[in-house]
Amino acid sequence: MAGTSGQAAARRRAEDLRDAIRHHDHLYHVLDQPEISDAEYDKLYRELKGLEEKFPELVTPDSPTQRVGAEPRPGFSEVEHVAPMLSLDSGDDEEDARRFDTRVRSALGDGDVEYVAEPKLDGLSLELVYEDGSLTRAATRGDGRVGEDVTPNARTIGSLPLRLRDTDRGTPTLLALRGEAVMLIDEFERLNARLTQDDKPVFANPRNAAAGSMRQIDPSVTAARPLVFYAYEVMSVEGLTLVTQAEVLDALRDWGFRVSGETKTGLRIDEALELHHVLERRRDELAYEIDGIVIKLDDLATRERLGATAHHPRWAFAYKFEPRREISDILDIVVQVGRTGKLTPVAMLRPVDVGGVTVSRASLHNREEIERKDVRVGDKVRIQRAGDVIPQVLERIDEHGKKRRPRFRMPETCPACSAPVVSHGPLDFCTNGLACRAQLKARIQHFASRQALDIQGLGERTVEQLLEAKLVSSVADLLTLREEDLVTLEGFADLSARNLVEAIRTSVEVTLDRFLYALGIPEVGTQTARDLAGHFGSLDALLAAEREELEAVPGIGPKVAEAVSDFLESRGTRQTIEELRRRGVKLVEPEAPAAADFAGLTFVFTGGLESMSRGDAQDLVRSLGGRTSSSVSAKTDYVVAGVDPGSKYEKAKQLGVTVLSEDEFLKMLPPGAR
Ligand code: IVH
Repeated sequence: MAGTSGQAAARRRAEDLRDAIRHHDHLYHVLDQPEISDAEYDKLYRELKGLEEKFPELVTPDSPTQRVGAEPRPGFSEVEHVAPMLSLDSGDDEEDARRFDTRVRSALGDGDVEYVAEPKLDGLSLELVYEDGSLTRAATRGDGRVGEDVTPNARTIGSLPLRLRDTDRGTPTLLALRGEAVMLIDEFERLNARLTQDDKPVFANPRNAAAGSMRQIDPSVTAARPLVFYAYEVMSVEGLTLVTQAEVLDALRDWGFRVSGETKTGLRIDEALELHHVLERRRDELAYEIDGIVIKLDDLATRERLGATAHHPRWAFAYKFEPRREISDILDIVVQVGRTGKLTPVAMLRPVDVGGVTVSRASLHNREEIERKDVRVGDKVRIQRAGDVIPQVLERIDEHGKKRRPRFRMPETCPACSAPVVSHGPLDFCTNGLACRAQLKARIQHFASRQALDIQGLGERTVEQLLEAKLVSSVADLLTLREEDLVTLEGFADLSARNLVEAIRTSVEVTLDRFLYALGIPEVGTQTARDLAGHFGSLDALLAAEREELEAVPGIGPKVAEAVSDFLESRGTRQTIEELRRRGVKLVEPEAPAAADFAGLTFVFTGGLESMSRGDAQDLVRSLGGRTSSSVSAKTDYVVAGVDPGSKYEKAKQLGVTVLSEDEFLKMLPPGAR
């Protein structure tokens, strides 16, 4: 009958479409290597969706269309894990890690032990169960024996396969595995920016964001959160045999999971410890947060022999990085005024060592954040330091029964100049513009900073002295400072005065991008300044641009375009620019002696470099006319692999992209650029 054969054809077509969509999902979400456009993908997806609507009996639970659309449920049900989800024995001392190795070797009576070392991902641990290749359950860790069933939420994660890919190893009849749902750091920052815009509370770190997103009653909320799943452990497998952890990781990759590219196999203990040091150094370059490495015995049968305590297996050890979170007390809360007049409350802390750096102050961001966290002078708080950024107060630690001081109130007048303060949403601003000393000071410091005019010898203390002595009352005044004025300042001798004047004189020849950054336009960092300079080519062209033209610049959204045009249109800005030009600022073409050297070439850096930071290497490539990218594709010309290169190295090899050592890269540089 026509109906039946129509249905049979539909079934075949649906199967083909599912295979194709799964293939493209894998390329996009796991390998970062899409082969078709979003539009082409949407077309496949819509066709499948249409068929499934017409023939609902064709819908399978592992169909790509079943990632979204589950209804919110009243709560999470509890499920027992296939095998207990143990935690890991851990320590942040090299001695601890060596003791682990000694214990393992003495228990085995074997001098030769091979380890695998993996990054310890800082997200939410999940158990996934696949029956005959299809995902049937996802659960949180809970108490280790029983967790919460989060299957509908887990289904929305694009990098988590709903069906295991077919491989030569075959499909296990049962597979229970463990991995981590994480939020990539740049996605986390984007999410927080969005939450701030919507006046919603932000997440303190990517881990909380991942956990909070996973534990949503409504899966459509989870679907809108950019989570990524990394697999790292097989808890139970039936229907095939796996012998080593190295093989487990390969199998997981083959079945379609992401496995961290920083993972290393076949290691002696010393090599595993070395990975700890390498990753601790490179921590801020990774796309996700890690808080250490996990050292695991490679051979699975030997693992069985070692067994586990009630809490943790004896065959693995988490060698953690030094914590970047610590507890301290708030001694005082002061309010700082930034160059845009924004008031920032800052907690003055009892100094504590946080991962090797002494921290004595931490940002409390704004009025609303203080209210939300309810922190007051005298409170105990948890603080966090991440990368180069200013430490933050994460949360207040409740001390039961302790009498607390009154709530903190933002001042109604500017703490620096006493002008009235106005509120815009969660933020407060001084209304006095550059007549406010604090704003002027911050503006001058920014103007002189390394990425702006880079005036050597003009630090915070000197700026303060200049303001105090009324030698400057605008950024332009810097340009007319004379040696005889400076020598009157405390600590200035003839030589230092001459050096500063000379430094200012040479700094006024500046490229347009640096000049734009130096102006301190709200929302404009170094990258946006470069985009603007690159697009308009001259200051006059930029000053003449309409808002629509600004919005058309690649990389610039409506919000930034508005901030730029408001700033550039203001009379004060025009006067400042006029004044700066009159007193000697000269916009010069970027220095490009060899700018054509790398023109048309795209470089990707992976691993740590010995002779310079990765950021400096990227700057160097750009200064020579080349492009840099964070991901390897067929368009990449060179991958520069430093110490412990990551997955990009593998990908370069796969794609046949030329891989350079650091030395080879240095040799490509023109003389003078090295
Ligand atoms: S293995 C029984 N490997 O660290 C061993 N755990 O307490 C199972 N984690 O809850 C864990 N990265 O969430 C393992 N590469 C990795 C990991 C990892 C992160 C987490 C996991 C666990 C916690 C340790």
